[in-house]
Amino acid sequence: MDVFTALESRRAIKHFDPSAKMTDEEVRKLLSAVILSPTSYNIQHWRFVRVSDTALREQLKEAAWGQTQVTDASELIILCGDVNAWQTDPARYFSNTDEQTRNTLLGMLDNFYRGNEQTQHDEVLRSCGMAAQSLMLTAKAMGYDTCPMIGFDQKQVAELIQLPDNHIIALFITIGKAKQRAHPRSGQLPLDEVLIENRF
Ligand SMILES: Cc1cc2nc3c(=O)[nH]c(=O)nc-3n(C[C@H](O)[C@H](O)[C@H](O)COP(=O)(O)O)c2cc1C
Repeated sequence: MDVFTALESRRAIKHFDPSAKMTDEEVRKLLSAVILSPTSYNIQHWRFVRVSDTALREQLKEAAWGQTQVTDASELIILCGDVNAWQTDPARYFSNTDEQTRNTLLGMLDNFYRGNEQTQHDEVLRSCGMAAQSLMLTAKAMGYDTCPMIGFDQKQVAELIQLPDNHIIALFITIGKAKQRAHPRSGQLPLDEVLIENRF
């Protein structure tokens, strides 16, 4: 499937077929592609929580105000990230570079994030956004449907998945086979309203 077809055919699916299951191999293939998405300074601070425990899924559904995608989809992935990853052994983000390049990048990375809590926080959301779209398009290309979700209680979900300190949750993505097709797109803004030439 080419990328234009994946973009056009991806829709947020609200009703999944609970009998349709992805294999572990397919999930690993999907996520192996997703982690090739870009991150600032190659920091790769995303963490993907794959929720396979059905009892935990039920609890997460309650925390998501009963949205059935959470339990009916084959997979539930919680995209979160480590806001402190910029200072956790960062040399590994540049392990294939020569030493001089590595040292330059380490200095730049430190300078960019140290003391900038807002940027550290925003970077997790930016990176997870990149990963989310990669995940949804790759899933589509593999014959699966998805639903991105932010309709859940952040605090409850953090407790349920034992989110470590200094991590934040960006969104859920459920993956599976649609039982019902999405409604027609609810109202796309014209490109000319959202495309700005040079300045506002
Ligand atoms: C960050 C984000 C959070 C969303 N949260 C939910 C959600 O909690 N439940 C839901 O059913 N759909 C959710 N959606 C799906 C949107 O409603 C949907 O993407 C939008 O209406 C456009 O429809 P489309 O994705 O089918 O083109 C979310 C989408 C995004 C990007």
